[in-house]
Formats: sequence, C-alpha cells, structure tokens
Amino acid sequence: MKLLVKNIKKLVQVEEEPIKWVAGADMAKLNCIDDAFLLISEGKIEDFGTMANMPNFDDSEGVDVMQEIDASGRMVFPSFCDSHTHLIYAGSREIEYSDKIKGLSYEEIAKRGGGILNSAERMHEATEEELYESAMERIHEIISLGTGAVEIKSGYGLTVEDELKMLRVIKRLKETTPLQIKSSFLGAHAVSAEYKGRQSEYVDMVISEMIPMVAAEDLADYIDVFCDKGFFTVEETDRILNAGMKHGMRPKIHANELDYSGGIQVGVKYNALSVDHLEFVGDAEIESLKGSETMPTVLPGAAFFLNMVCSPVRKMIDAGLPVALASDFNPGSSPSGNMKFILSLACINYKMLPQEAINATTINSAYAMGLQDEVGSIARGKIANVFITKEIPSIEFMPYAYGSNLVDTVILNGQVL
Ligand code: NIG
Ligand code: FE
Repeated sequence: MKLLVKNIKKLVQVEEEPIKWVAGADMAKLNCIDDAFLLISEGKIEDFGTMANMPNFDDSEGVDVMQEIDASGRMVFPSFCDSHTHLIYAGSREIEYSDKIKGLSYEEIAKRGGGILNSAERMHEATEEELYESAMERIHEIISLGTGAVEIKSGYGLTVEDELKMLRVIKRLKETTPLQIKSSFLGAHAVSAEYKGRQSEYVDMVISEMIPMVAAEDLADYIDVFCDKGFFTVEETDRILNAGMKHGMRPKIHANELDYSGGIQVGVKYNALSVDHLEFVGDAEIESLKGSETMPTVLPGAAFFLNMVCSPVRKMIDAGLPVALASDFNPGSSPSGNMKFILSLACINYKMLPQEAINATTINSAYAMGLQDEVGSIARGKIANVFITKEIPSIEFMPYAYGSNLVDTVILNGQVL
C-alpha cells in the first residue's frame, strides 16, 4: 500500500542528504519544495519532488493500490519531535500556579513540599493503569497537535517501585502508540520526602538500587539528573551519570535552569546527548558545548510558565552551536505539550526566526532524542511521520497564528490517523 500526497503547496524541511543537525547560521535555512508531491510506502518516505517532475505512478509496474491525498493550498511538515517531557503524571498542580502568581519562586514552592514532591505523592497513589490512561489522553492530544516523536522521563516516583512503575508505563506506551518514544530515567529529580536531609544517601540509593533495577528490565534509553541549585550537585551528577553509563544509558540532563550550576560542563564531560533548560549560559558554557556532540536544548514553555529569564539562544546560535527546542510537558513548570506554541514562544521571546524554530523542533530535537536517522525531516528512507496543515499562506504563519491548531491531517508511520 502506497500513499501519494499531491499538489502540496510547500513541502517543508526536505533533505536530499540527511545530516545529523543544523547549527549556527545554517539554522536560518530551511529546505522546502513548492508545488510538491510526497510518496510514502510501507511506512517510510519513498520519494518526493516537484509536481512537474512527478513520475506517472499510475503507469508504473507494481503500484496497484495507491491512496491519494490532494493537499492543494496546504503544506506538509515533518512531525514535531519533542525531546523532553515528563508526560506521565498523576493529578495537576494548579494550586502552585496561584502561589506562583502571588510571587513564590519555583524553589520556595519546592521547599514547602510542593513541586516535584507533590507530584511524587500522587504518583505513589496512582495505579499503573490510571497512569497509562491519563498519559494516553495527553499522547492523543500531542498527536493531534503535530508531534510524532516524544521523549518521556520518570522522576515523579522517587522510590524504586514508583520509578519502575513510571518507566513500565512508558514501555507500554512505546508498544501501543504510533509515536516514536524514548525513555529517560530521572530518579535524581528531587530528594524524596523519606530521604529529607539525607541527600547523599538518596544518591547512593539511586546508584545502588534504582539504576541496576531499571537496567535489569531495560526500561530506560537515557539517564537524567536535575543538576541545579537546590537540587543535585555536579559531584552527585557525576556519580549518577557514571553509574547510568555503566548500564548503557547515555546522559541527557536538566542543567542551568536556576543558576550557573556546572550542569552543562558535566553533561559535555560525559558526552550527554543533550543538556536541557539552559537559562544560565555564559561564555564558559558556550565554550564547553563547542565541538561537543551534546545538543543544547531550550524549553520555552517552562521559562514562560515560571516567568524566568530566557536562555541566550541568539548567543548560542551566533557562536555556531545548534539549538533544539522541546515542550518539557509536565504538571509543574509546563503543563502543555503544544509544540506549535513552542515555535511561537521561541520566535517572540528568544528572537528565533521561524525557520530556526522549525529546525529546532524537527531535525535538532530528533537528534536530542537519538532519532535523527529515523525522523525529523522529509528524507528518503525516514519514517513517514508528517502532518498536512490547513490552508496557510506561509511558513511564518505557523508561529504567527499562535493560538490556532493548524494541523489538518496527521500521518504517522505512513498511516493516516
Ligand atoms: O523540567 N526542572 C526540573 N523538572 C521539571 C519540572 C518538574 C516539576 O515541577 O514537576 C522541569 O521543568
Ligand atoms: Fe524537565
């Protein structure tokens, strides 16, 4: 069965020769084909080009079953890749939302037992089935908003059992949804209530109990640590990353959201796939990222929701670095997985060009979750995860119309949903 999308007004993010990421000045370039076709076969992208050069598929041998979509006036994008989420959670945290409006900081809320510990309590009470059902609702929502690949973290369990419970839910989602999913173990998201005042014992427990059990069930692709002021130190992060790497989990960490934490440097030291948040980035952090294989990843939803300073994205791009963007979908700092809204925030708050923001939410965020060879662009042989927009006048219209869902048709693994 083949699927032919014809008369596409603009086919966006096309790659003749796939590359691992786009960096620096190249981030402003976006390869597109006007008046295009896209041919999908067996779940993969088989061919694309201009309508003028489209082969006459009707006459070709062997092509007997062909589903066709006429995309006149509409564009085709590769699905968004959301490389950083915490979308398994129980309950919501709008009480803290009010506290934040009244002026309490993220750290103050955390110290009062709110924040991550609040979610950990609810996580403890929730069954695996309940978590699966609520995560499925969020998954359906993000699919309808154009996401085709997502990374999901544990980190609201904070006990061996509850961390495993979260990761088992992610495993089940990998098996039962059409999304490409990667999982990260984030036992070091906060010190659990039980270990209050005994942080180093908690870290020992993460290393000696949690990591081996997570690895034994092969539940995590990556290892994450919240390396920041008031959470885990560089030394603790160093130990945890080492332990995770011994079990084959590559680092992919939370860093420099609340201060110059040293998180970026320790991430680069261990060849992290990505370092994420990055509100506090200076020359030393930029120097350490240069020449590394680590993707700087910015989470505009969290900075918006917590009203934080913005990461110096322009400075990083001007220094020649690549930048990825992700939603951080979680109940505390970013209760939305809407990647198109992330595009809008990136343009307005970070002065990214629409083309840069699109690169950062597709090919670069695919890299940040280890999927750059499979998704993130329109390239022959890649998985056919794309969406067809509603009728839109230009690429810029995507971030511009910030409140409208402009996704009309979702195609994942070559299947029209
Ligand atoms: O990425 N910064 C650390 N962790 C999450 C927030 C977790 C929460 O508040 O529930 C984040 O923003
Ligand atoms: Fe996060």
